[in-house]
Amino acid sequence: MADQDSRKGVSYVTPEVLAWIERVHVPHDPASMRAFESPEREGMPAIQVGASEGKTLALLLRLVAARKVVELGTLAGYSAIQMGRALAKGGQLWTVELEPRHAAVARANIEAAGLGAVVTVIEGRALDVLEGLASKGPFDAIFIDADKGSYDRYGRWAARAIRPGGLLLADNAYYFGDLLADTAEAAAMRRFHEESREHFETVCIPTPEGLLLGIRKG
Ligand SMILES: C[S@@+](CC[C@H](N)C(=O)[O-])C[C@H]1O[C@@H](n2cnc3c(N)ncnc32)[C@H](O)[C@@H]1O
Repeated sequence: MADQDSRKGVSYVTPEVLAWIERVHVPHDPASMRAFESPEREGMPAIQVGASEGKTLALLLRLVAARKVVELGTLAGYSAIQMGRALAKGGQLWTVELEPRHAAVARANIEAAGLGAVVTVIEGRALDVLEGLASKGPFDAIFIDADKGSYDRYGRWAARAIRPGGLLLADNAYYFGDLLADTAEAAAMRRFHEESREHFETVCIPTPEGLLLGIRKG
C-alpha cells in the first residue's frame, strides 16, 4: 500500500515529521547552523540543500572514501561544509560560485567550520572554470547544484572528469516540477538525465527536489 501511494506521488513527510527526523538524524552543530542560516541572514536566496540532503551527500562521499570532489554552486557554503567534513584524510573540495558576495560569505563560513585548508572556493562562471579544474582530477565525486539550464553541459564534463566507481550527484533534478515542460532549460535537464545513463549507473533519488545519483561505469 505504501509503495502504491509513493508511486502516485503521495508522501508521508509533513513539515513536522521532517523537523523531527532532522533533529534525530541531522542535528546541526554551530558551524553548520551558521552556514545553513547565512543565506537568510545575509539577504541571499535561501536555496541551500536541506539538512537531510546535505547529510546524504556526506554519507555517499564516505561510502566511496572520497578525497577529490568538485561542487558547482556554493551559495553560502552549507553543502560544501557537509561534504568537506566527509572527505578522507588529505582530501580536497573545490567549489565554484559565480556571485562574488556568495563566495565571500561561503569563505567566511568555511573558515569558521575549520575547513579553510580543505575547501577552496573558486569564483567564476562554472563553464569557464571547469576545463582548468580538470587537471586536479580525476575526481571521486562531482556535485552539480548551479544554474539548471547548464546541467547537460556539466554532466558531459563530469563524465570525463570522474574516475570509474566515482559519483555523479545533482540536486533539483525534478527541475522544480517543470522537468517535462516545453522550455530550453527543461530540455537541458532531460538531456542531463538521459545522457548521464550512458556513462553512469543512475537513479534519481526521490528527495523533495530530486537528487540524481550516478556511479561512473568502469
Ligand atoms: C542552489 S545554490 C547552491 C547551494 C549550495 N550547493 C548549498 O546547498 O549550500 C546555487 C548557486 O549557484 C550559483 N550559480 C548560478 N549560476 C552559476 C554559474 N554559471 N557558475 C557558478 N555558480 C553559479 C548561484 O549564485 C548560487 O549561489
